[in-house]
Amino acid sequence: MENKIVNTGSAKLTIGEDSYDLPIYSGSMGAPAVDVRALHKLSGHFTFDPGYTSTCSTESQITFIDGGKGQLLHRGYSIEDLAENCDFMEVAYLMMNGELPNKEQFAEFDEKITSHTMLHEQVERFFHGFRRDAHPMAMICGTTGALSAFYHDETDIAENEARDLAMMRLIAKMPTICARAYKYSIGQPHVYPDNSLNYAENFLKMCFGVPAETYEVNPVIAKTMNKIFILHADHEQNASTSTVRLAGSSGANPYACIAAGIACLWGPSHGGANEACLNMLQEIGSVDRIPEFIARAKDKQDPFRLMGFGHRVYKNFDPRSRVMQKASHELLDELGISNPILDVAKELERIALEDEYFIAKKLYPNVDFYSGIVLSALGFPTSMFTVLFALARTVGWISQWNEMLEDPSQRIGRPRQLYTGAPARSLVPMDKR
Ligand code: ACO
Repeated sequence: MENKIVNTGSAKLTIGEDSYDLPIYSGSMGAPAVDVRALHKLSGHFTFDPGYTSTCSTESQITFIDGGKGQLLHRGYSIEDLAENCDFMEVAYLMMNGELPNKEQFAEFDEKITSHTMLHEQVERFFHGFRRDAHPMAMICGTTGALSAFYHDETDIAENEARDLAMMRLIAKMPTICARAYKYSIGQPHVYPDNSLNYAENFLKMCFGVPAETYEVNPVIAKTMNKIFILHADHEQNASTSTVRLAGSSGANPYACIAAGIACLWGPSHGGANEACLNMLQEIGSVDRIPEFIARAKDKQDPFRLMGFGHRVYKNFDPRSRVMQKASHELLDELGISNPILDVAKELERIALEDEYFIAKKLYPNVDFYSGIVLSALGFPTSMFTVLFALARTVGWISQWNEMLEDPSQRIGRPRQLYTGAPARSLVPMDKR
């Protein structure tokens, strides 16, 4: 990656009697940033920003978010445009290469991906090591990490070709791993990939097909699956992406780095929210119980939060939630499914958007608010929701990982701390304590 930040001024920081000039950098869009890298050397001070609310951890050219406007762009293209018009593999190509592919480039890329869809047959043994009731996120985290044992020696991440191969393999094998985890959890045999299908269709077949029968892909379901993958493909420096970058900054194996991202994504404040959201909608159950849950969400003594509401960056609508809302209506209409949970969701959204508490705190529905409804209509159990998120996000994670390694200014990530523990003291031997 060619560094493109431009020095556009300087900021003066005064600490006691001393002042320091710190450079200000601008990118192509978004807020400028004060470069504090020299601060400790110059002044002996660190900056304190737990949760990174004001800290840019990197320069990046992949994804741009304007939370105030509710805007999400990948390589300059809006998420609405990409979700409406593209195949997920076009978006993967875009993320990795910076431009959308033409027909020839797409065919070549697609062929490369499909040539890596199978797992080494020994990976099958990893699945058999899991308890049958293991959460599929635990299985995909463990198995993706285990791929590092299969492709370690040939993965010299300093080499462009080796990095490309690792990226292709990860994107290609992720649906196979995720579908295998699902099949294992329901006791059905593994369905091998079918390279005559596109990415979304192949994944659906591996999840819902059985070796004894012919599986016909429903085009409505495949179209929605493709859209869901695109919506989850990347989201700049969120917790799991930052985890992948931090793990990768030490030069670690890419399969192990993606496993670290999967672990981070699993939490209910991040990718686990869609599962938590559907559970919450089911717990609410009917429209008349909504006020009780709204009251609980506002009660400071109650740890309950309205799942699927709020976002660290979007302080306006999450643009992905609009696409997902439309997709959920289209899907349920086309499949003729009437879902009482959708009524609860619609009413909850309406009430929360009119409520002073949610307005004042700028809490809008996020992508997870509708994705759980869509995924359950597609036939996935709640335990698979975060798995699907991880599958799609692998494209973003691996593109960000590659960008980091190509960045000439890249160093190992090493945050500092403000220590408030015990001061230095002498040890008293146990018999004298
Ligand atoms: N319900 C009720 N109140 C909320 C909610 C919510 N969902 N989200 C935030 N708040 C309140 C907080 O209590 C806090 O109030 P206070 O200022 O009076 O203390 C205020 O809004 C700000 O909340 P923070 O937790 O400081 O916001 P933060 O940016 O740290 O958290 C987060 C963002 C984690 C997404 C949060 O809104 C949340 O927990 N939402 C529910 C879980 C969820 O849907 N996560 C999905 C995120 S999207 C994704 O990962 C794809």
